Amino acid sequence: MLSVKNLTKQFKSGDTKVVAVNNISLSVPQGIFASIIGKSGSGKSTLLSLLGALDKPSAGEIIVDGRDIAKMSDSRLIDYRRNKIGFVFQSYNLIPNLSALENVMLPMEFAGVKAKAKRLRAEKLLREVGLTKEKFARKPTRLSGGEQQRIAIARALANSPKLILADEPTGNLDSATGKIIIELLKKLAKIEKTTIIAVTHDQGIAHEAKIKFTLKDGKLVA
Ligand SMILES: Nc1ncnc2c1ncn2[C@@H]1O[C@H](COP(=O)(O)OP(=O)(O)OP(=O)(O)O)[C@@H](O)[C@H]1O
Ligand SMILES: [Mg+2]
Repeated sequence: MLSVKNLTKQFKSGDTKVVAVNNISLSVPQGIFASIIGKSGSGKSTLLSLLGALDKPSAGEIIVDGRDIAKMSDSRLIDYRRNKIGFVFQSYNLIPNLSALENVMLPMEFAGVKAKAKRLRAEKLLREVGLTKEKFARKPTRLSGGEQQRIAIARALANSPKLILADEPTGNLDSATGKIIIELLKKLAKIEKTTIIAVTHDQGIAHEAKIKFTLKDGKLVA
C-alpha cells in the first residue's frame, strides 16, 4: 500500500547540511499498524511530513496506492492530503470554537459531502472512538486530553483515508490513556482498513505495532 524507495531529505541552513532522512526504503501493507521509533532528532517527524506530502523529498520515491506522491502536481497533492491521508498530532490540533461533532465534520465539508451524510458519518466515528453522546456538542476545552485525541482520530478518519500518520499521538497523555488510544488506533486500522503509521518515543507502544521501524541519524536501522 505504502512503499518508500531511497527516500532522502536534506536541509541546508547556511553552510551546514543536515540529512534528516537518509536513503530510507520501507513498505507497509494495507490495514497495518506500524510504528516509527528513534531518538530526538533521528528524523521521525521529517519522514512523516514527507509521507503526508507536507514537505518535498530531496530524492527518492513515495508510492501510495500505486502513485508516486513525490511526482504529483501541487493540485493533486492538495487532494492527496485532503482525501487520502489523515493526520493525528501530539497536541490534538482541534479547532477550539467548533464542537466535537463539528470538528469531525470539517474535513468532509472540504470534500463536499452532503449535510446529512456528513453528520451521520461524524456521529458513527465518534461512537467508534468511544466518545459518549452527551459530549458530541462540547468544545475541545471542556474535554480531557484523551477525549480530545479520540476526536482528533475520528476527524483523521472522516474521509476514509488510506493512510493515517500520527506524530507522538500519546505524547501528552498519561500512560494508561496512551495505551487506550493505541488500542483504538489498532482496532481502527482493522475495521476501517486504514494503514496507520505512528511515531512514538514509547518502546511499549512500539512493541504493540505489527511492524516497527527504528531510525537513527536519519537512517533506518531495524
Ligand atoms: N525545517 C528544518 N530545517 C532544518 N533542519 C531541520 C528542519 N526540520 C528538521 N530538521 C533537522 O532534521 C533532523 C531531524 O529532525 P526531526 O524533527 O525529523 O526529528 P524527530 O526524530 O522528529 O525528533 P523529535 O523526537 O525531537 O521530535 C534534526 O537534526 C533537525 O534539526
Ligand atoms: Mg518529531
